Amino acid sequence: MDKILFREPRIEDADVLLDFGNQLLTESDNYIRAPDERANDVAQMAAIIRSFQQTPNHVMLHAWERGVPVGEAVLIGGHLHKCRLTATVGLGILNSHQRMGLGTKLLVLLEERARELGLHRLELTVLHTNPAARRLYDRMGYRREGVKLQSVLQGHRYVDEIMMAKLLT
Ligand SMILES: CC(C)(COP(=O)(O)OP(=O)(O)OC[C@H]1O[C@@H](n2cnc3c(N)ncnc32)[C@H](O)[C@@H]1OP(=O)(O)O)[C@@H](O)C(=O)NCCC(=O)NCCS
Repeated sequence: MDKILFREPRIEDADVLLDFGNQLLTESDNYIRAPDERANDVAQMAAIIRSFQQTPNHVMLHAWERGVPVGEAVLIGGHLHKCRLTATVGLGILNSHQRMGLGTKLLVLLEERARELGLHRLELTVLHTNPAARRLYDRMGYRREGVKLQSVLQGHRYVDEIMMAKLLT
């Protein structure tokens, strides 16, 4: 693996991040979101980047290798006033770059940003059938809070989501 740069996106990254997002969501069945449920064109991707830039409790971070994005982490803070210090975590690494420590590094950086923003609680759901991600979140101190029984329809079978959270303060 070449040197990896971690940074928040600029509007000019929209075309590259559009393709990256499609690849990421196509490669793995472990995401709840389908490829066409992210951005359908460069303008939509630019709008997503702008919205992350302008929303105080939102963070988007990418890992870049030689100018190409290979991993993404996001924090989406609550939009209701009383939930503004709670944020949902999203994480994904291209298949070609998994098991190299990038998921851990992105999550560590994301948590640093969350602390800078004064966020109190990070939460997520992970598919019961995704041991890699469950192990990563366990190792990073996320605690299991419950199960959403059969909440996701994958092909013809229902899969449970495990609810996990970490308190930062
Ligand atoms: C889950 C994911 C983010 C992990 O990222 P990664 O860069 O591969 O993870 P790291 O290299 O930092 O490894 C961190 C830990 O994750 C766990 N892990 C990662 N890949 C694993 C695998 N294939 N099997 C078992 N554990 C795995 C291990 O605990 C690993 O630590 P270890 O190598 O010391 O055992 C990545 O596999 C991914 O993007 N998967 C597809 C999308 C996804 O599942 N996203 C999460 C949705 S909730």
